[in-house]
Amino acid sequence: MSKLHPRLARRVKLSDGALVTRMLDIANGLDDVIRMGRGDPDLDTPAHIVKAGQDALANGATHYTHPLGILPLREAIAENIRANGGADYAADEIMVTPGGQQGMFIIALSLLDPGDEILVPCPGYNPYQQAAELSDAAIVKIPMSMETNFTLTAEMVEAHVTPKSKILVLINPNNPTGTVTPPEEVRRIAEVAKRHDLIVISDEIYARLTYGNNMVQPVASLPEMKERTITLSGFSKAYAMTGWRIGYLAGPRALIEPMGEVNHALAISTAAVSQHAALAAMTGPQDCVEEMRRLYDERRRAICDGLDGMGMRYAEPQGAFYVYADVSSLGLGTTAGAFCERLLAEGQVMMYPGTIYGDYTDDFVRMSMTQPVDRIRVAMGRMAGVVESFRAEARAPAN
Ligand SMILES: Cc1ncc(COP(=O)(O)O)c(C=O)c1O
Repeated sequence: MSKLHPRLARRVKLSDGALVTRMLDIANGLDDVIRMGRGDPDLDTPAHIVKAGQDALANGATHYTHPLGILPLREAIAENIRANGGADYAADEIMVTPGGQQGMFIIALSLLDPGDEILVPCPGYNPYQQAAELSDAAIVKIPMSMETNFTLTAEMVEAHVTPKSKILVLINPNNPTGTVTPPEEVRRIAEVAKRHDLIVISDEIYARLTYGNNMVQPVASLPEMKERTITLSGFSKAYAMTGWRIGYLAGPRALIEPMGEVNHALAISTAAVSQHAALAAMTGPQDCVEEMRRLYDERRRAICDGLDGMGMRYAEPQGAFYVYADVSSLGLGTTAGAFCERLLAEGQVMMYPGTIYGDYTDDFVRMSMTQPVDRIRVAMGRMAGVVESFRAEARAPAN
């Protein structure tokens, strides 16, 4: 890790990005790398959404907007939340943000005083921790494991609550594990939140991408939860709109209004063009979401078939577009970090170790389903070859 400049504020920390940087350097020197690292869909934004953005620009959507976002978009988001089993929101209970990512920082800056505790699931999407760090809050990690298919339980939350606990983060489906917290467990977790007066940040950005019988129970629509829940979601995943940088928060007016001031101070507003494109996403045909979900499901099965063939254990992938697999189950005597490096150098396949997402073991790797299914099959074949080369090495007599 490079040394921090002495004049930087104490709250600025650098994560140990050495492994990812090293992997990117290795990848740059290789041909034909199959990139299953980043969580950025390979699919393009559907054409009708792009067209709406182009039309909006042609029609003068080149100015700041209301800090909470244009009214028709906030109304459409509220309607979409209702249609998907969520709580009832008025337009002034919705804030459009420059990506769900910025939403995390708006929440942390608005709600966390120094010393307040924020409970975060581990492994989990790490910017929640970075946002809490920038607010000088205390991060309480809740470790999860294969025992519960890497999903949070009410007991785990209960065991980590203290009188200083203020916020609980629930990411459902979770990144990097691709797992869904069962609806009944979400209800039990909500009861713990009420009992201990916690605010729940419910990250439901992957909620439209679930497989089989899995479904996401929106936290805010549970009894007495709307007043203590901020739902974070967006367009990046379900509509393949990562580059448009647009997401949203939904919560009680008393929190959204002051958080709108923070959003105004940070960004004034979300880009107008992206808001008009997002409006088309919400109000236009929804079959594009189902089409993408079907594609990811096919890719998911191709990854699972490949891993089953190698005898590699993984968390049951139930949502989002990730498979979280256990390198230690292969018995190669290597860490996930070292495995990822060798898989890249020898097999030209890129995936990330779970330690990047706060995993407390170095056993698991995250595979993104952000490649076409035929490329995924090639990647699984290459991975099997690298596993075999590890095994051959172990069999070879030492000289
Ligand atoms: C769980 C989760 N939440 C939020 C985000 C942020 O998405 P965006 O800022 O593109 O809306 C991501 C992005 O990968 C994510 O994985």
